[in-house]
Amino acid sequence: MSMPAQKLDDPIEVEARRLLLSLMYVDCSADRKWNIATCREIAPLTLEINRLKREKNAVILTHSYVEPEIIYGVGDFKGDSYYLSEKAKEAKADVILFVGVVFMAETAKILSPGAQVVVPDRGSGCSLADSITGEDVRRLKALYPDAAVVCYINSTAEVKAESDVCVTSSNVYDIVIGLPEKRILFVPDRLMADNVRKELANRGIEKEIISSDGTCVVHEEFTPAQIDEARAAFPGVKVVAHPECTPEVAELADFLGSTSAMMKYVKSTDAPYYLMLTECGLVSRLEVEDPEKNFIGGCRLCPFMKLNSLQKIHDALSDPQPDQIITIDEDLRQRAAHCIDRMFELAPSN
Ligand code: 13P
Ligand code: SF4
Repeated sequence: MSMPAQKLDDPIEVEARRLLLSLMYVDCSADRKWNIATCREIAPLTLEINRLKREKNAVILTHSYVEPEIIYGVGDFKGDSYYLSEKAKEAKADVILFVGVVFMAETAKILSPGAQVVVPDRGSGCSLADSITGEDVRRLKALYPDAAVVCYINSTAEVKAESDVCVTSSNVYDIVIGLPEKRILFVPDRLMADNVRKELANRGIEKEIISSDGTCVVHEEFTPAQIDEARAAFPGVKVVAHPECTPEVAELADFLGSTSAMMKYVKSTDAPYYLMLTECGLVSRLEVEDPEKNFIGGCRLCPFMKLNSLQKIHDALSDPQPDQIITIDEDLRQRAAHCIDRMFELAPSN
């Protein structure tokens, strides 16, 4: 018997029910944090953020690692670094609020200089981006003057300004392979450089990859033992990893790719269980978007991504403080834009 039609007059109740439609699937395997009562608690804030967005002609870009109430409550676009950079470049908004980490917001400012780009928390750094300065890259370039300088997008505007081409986890292999130079200076991710070196060897391509020493504090912690244990306990489990993991982990994974590619892989395969070797936000997204799948834990939290919150988003939109507004010197911005534009030319789609 269907429920009698009933008009909901209270906008907060409507908002709470809208939120619940997505959030009810989060934490499927644990105690559910989201129910109609907890959705009612955040509904006034998400309603107000969405109102402010319209008032300020703002767009909210959300990386898949941030909390699901942000992604599904107030985000306009959600995805990986490549996709969000494209969206920042295309944005016609007066304000871009980037909910991710600071290097992503800097990238948005480089690509969309006319917009005011704001972040909820200026402390949301990244262990990779913060591992190397522009001065460090200049020193390395002096040591290897014949090398093409390739920077992973997880880098500061200063580092991008010193680089020939930028890459993301979705195009790193294709771009490095396609460059004419035989010697590549790859910054800042040492483990991704190891994975690129291995991929080149597998494909019989000769190139020298020199790297700096950065690592991701989240992905460097996954271990082959964790994979072995998961396979023993959950026969048929598919192991899905990010190229910021160690080459030992990458070698054992069933699939290695960007966060968007990992999502696509899970959605398009049929396995009894999945071990996601990445940040837990991606698991929450999959729980919402593919609730039939079983995830067996193992993911880790990025302390920087988790600095974002609905309250900070509200405050950054309503009255951004100077430290929440991204500014980049125009000459530096143009030099940094060059290496991202080159990426878009070499890898025009995600
Ligand atoms: P993606 O571009 O694959 O989303 O990766 C960003 C990131 O910071 C992974 O740790
Ligand atoms: Fe940086 Fe790692 Fe966090 Fe991604 S997960 S933002 S690479 S520290």
